Amino acid sequence: MEENYMPQQYEPTINMPYEFSHIMEGARPSEIRELLKYASMPGMISFGGGMPNPKSFAIDAIREIVDDVLIKNGKYALQYGNTAGLPELREEIAKMVRETEGIEAESKHIIVTTGSQQALYALPKVLVNPGETVITEAPTYIGAISAFNANGVRMAGIPMDKDGMKTDVLQATLEKMKSEGKKPKYIYVIPNFHNPAGYTMSLERRKHLVDLSNDSGIPIVEDNPYGELRFSGRKIPSIKSLNPGGEVTYLGTFSKVMTPGLRIGFAISSEAVVGKINLLKQAVDLSTNTLSEFIAMEYLKRGIMKVQIPKTIELYRKKRDLMLSSLEKYFPEGSDWSRPDGGMFIWAEVDSGIDTTAMIRKALEKKVAYVSGASFFPDGSKRNNMRLNFTFSEDDQIVEGIRRLGEVVSSELKIAKEA
Ligand SMILES: Cc1ncc(COP(=O)(O)O)c(C=O)c1O
Repeated sequence: MEENYMPQQYEPTINMPYEFSHIMEGARPSEIRELLKYASMPGMISFGGGMPNPKSFAIDAIREIVDDVLIKNGKYALQYGNTAGLPELREEIAKMVRETEGIEAESKHIIVTTGSQQALYALPKVLVNPGETVITEAPTYIGAISAFNANGVRMAGIPMDKDGMKTDVLQATLEKMKSEGKKPKYIYVIPNFHNPAGYTMSLERRKHLVDLSNDSGIPIVEDNPYGELRFSGRKIPSIKSLNPGGEVTYLGTFSKVMTPGLRIGFAISSEAVVGKINLLKQAVDLSTNTLSEFIAMEYLKRGIMKVQIPKTIELYRKKRDLMLSSLEKYFPEGSDWSRPDGGMFIWAEVDSGIDTTAMIRKALEKKVAYVSGASFFPDGSKRNNMRLNFTFSEDDQIVEGIRRLGEVVSSELKIAKEA
């Protein structure tokens, strides 16, 4: 009897062409996903991915936690979970953000998500209609661009400098849009150790942003995956803590400070926004991975995060310094780069005659990879930047990789000058 339910061998005889949805018809894999293929080639040094160093993973502590969770709470940890997230995890998150970011939130303001990437996808889905506009920094996180594109949302990019989004340009843009009868749905920013630019938004600009948001009635989305990874300089208050009565949705994640493999992130917002994300999640994945939630909850409860982050900071600070000194040594005159106080990326700018997207092929021939800057601009407009990740590679690879890249840039510069 059961055999009837076995899958049958299926040989398609008709080759039926699919008509994809308008939104997905134009979707293309990101350069980063493509580059990941090369990252594993023998001898390749990749500054492409945004991966934490595996040495930052507290593997032994996590193994103990997994054992304990399965012994004590296996019947819950392996079961379907609550859509909003494990209540004890949300309480731990509330405690954590009060301590680290000065954010006052109750469990009802918090929803656990499958990485903060899920929140980046959910927010335009619940707040923006296709064709409407969101303000971003330019450049901005490539995964946010993908999430906006997948929702048919337009992006208006505001330029940055070393103090973050230029809020005077934002102000002028909002005024112009208003005069045209347009209102963007929210302003998306990555204030700490920006991906890809490495910049941190100054306190003055954060305050200006808050004023602009409150005056115009346009909410802010503050995406902060790297905030705890500060190697130098002084901490700057989170935008949400500067605007407790205003509309700021704060996005956090354990990917860079615990492990990305657990896929645990969270959004903190008003009950109304959290409620809509909850409804969307019921259509997307019902709940975040329950076992991961238990692991993250125990990790916080046992204070492992507080012990592990300083070790990760030491590891990364050295790598950042090594990459900065190697850039100084090997990159030709006319190049410049950010000097991040934390996070995972350096943003390098080369002569404007060099197209870093076209240059990738030559870099790969020399067995070194990066992500070209154009991928991070909503309109792909700027072509002479590259994002360099300094956290994943071994120390000697950082020096050798930047040496190889310096050679490629120098030879491209020569060609550009001769043209
Ligand atoms: C700025 C930013 N936001 C969000 C994410 C998504 O992280 P996750 O989904 O792993 O939490 C990343 C990952 O690189 C990021 O750089």
